[in-house]
Formats: sequence, C-alpha cells, structure tokens
Amino acid sequence: MNMNIFLMAIPSDQLKIKYIQMKKVGIFYGSTSGTTKSVAEKIQKSFGKTAEIHNIKDATIEMISSYTNLIFGTSAWGIGDMQDDWEDFVDELSVIDFKDKKVALFGLGDQEEYPESFVDGLGTLYCRLPDKSVVVGEWPKKGYSYYFSLAEKDGKLVGLAIDDHQQPEKTEERISQWVEQLKKSFL
Ligand SMILES: Cc1cc2nc3c(=O)[nH]c(=O)nc-3n(C[C@H](O)[C@H](O)[C@H](O)COP(=O)(O)O)c2cc1C
Repeated sequence: MNMNIFLMAIPSDQLKIKYIQMKKVGIFYGSTSGTTKSVAEKIQKSFGKTAEIHNIKDATIEMISSYTNLIFGTSAWGIGDMQDDWEDFVDELSVIDFKDKKVALFGLGDQEEYPESFVDGLGTLYCRLPDKSVVVGEWPKKGYSYYFSLAEKDGKLVGLAIDDHQQPEKTEERISQWVEQLKKSFL
C-alpha cells in the first residue's frame, strides 16, 4: 500500500506515531583467559548504550532478572564443559521467570584443536537453560569446520560461535551481523 495515501486517510488528530525503543540488554559472560570477555565487550559496543556487561562470576539472580533482553556467553573447556564460572552459576537460573524475556547465546571455541567438541560450552549452556522457548539468535553453521558440536540443533547453531584462534578475521563481521539480527528479535 502507498503509505502517503494511507496516512492521508487518517484524520490528523487520530494520527499517533509510536516509537518502540529496545529495552536494556544485559550481557553476562564467563571467561578464563579473556577471549570471551573481549567478544562480550565488542557485542556491547555494537549495541551502544542499550547494553550493559557483567562477568557471570560477579552476577546475582536479581541482576539477571532486571533485564528483559539477555545475552549469555561462555567459552568451551573440554567435552561438554562450559567456562567454570558459568558452571558454578547455571543452576541458579532455574529460579528466574523467563516468561517475558528473550535470551541469546554466544560461545567461544577452537574448531581446529577441538573439532569433536567445538563450542560445546555454548551447547551445554543452552541445554541447561530452564526455558528454551525464549532463545533467539540462532546462527548458521556454514563457515566453520568441525566434526561435532553440542551447540548444533536442527542444522543450525543455538547461538553465535566465535573462533578467535582459527578465524580471528571473521570475528568482527560475525558479531556485527549477529547484533543486527538480535536488534530485530529483542523486544
Ligand atoms: C584445556 C582446554 C580445553 C578446551 N576445550 C575446548 C573444547 O572442547 N571445544 C572448543 O571449541 N574449544 C575448547 N577450548 C578452546 C577455548 O574455548 C578457547 O581458547 C576460548 O577462546 C577461551 O576463552 P576464554 O579465555 O574466554 O575462557 C579449550 C581450551 C583449552 C585450553
């Protein structure tokens, strides 16, 4: 429909333009040697002032509950393992009411050194979420090379996978594309 014609048909006193502003985004990361932290900071930068960043090591249930839009990030440490601080915290998620929230996940890994468990931490974090229906931000597996990943579901990855060891040149672009995608998914 031609929008000009559509607007002319509405009396000016009834014409209300509604601006929908994205609610705050809370980024919670677990990082052992700093790579996931650095990716979390890049994600925050891509969102601008809307996003706040926290180390899961210092997080509380109240902090996580205060956000409508959440991003959880973890690295992978062995077959199926999340980063240690996420492992310590993850069971506390079960007391949070996720009903009106959206959750996006990202994971760090190394597809050449660990091709049988690539970004497994991402897959395990997804698996341990109490409500998977609120997950957004799935990501294509195209462009990575690995044999197996717990993060793969229905031919896609359950969140953004970053391999800053083997594909550092792709990190910025992947983050920027993913964040644009999330801006549409978040409330
Ligand atoms: C002992 C060890 C085990 C690892 N296991 C895996 C793994 O199973 N899968 C994977 O994709 N990456 C694995 N990695 C790679 C890390 O996930 C990767 O180095 C990541 O960038 C670390 O992020 P962080 O410093 O933020 O914790 C492992 C690294 C180490 C040192």
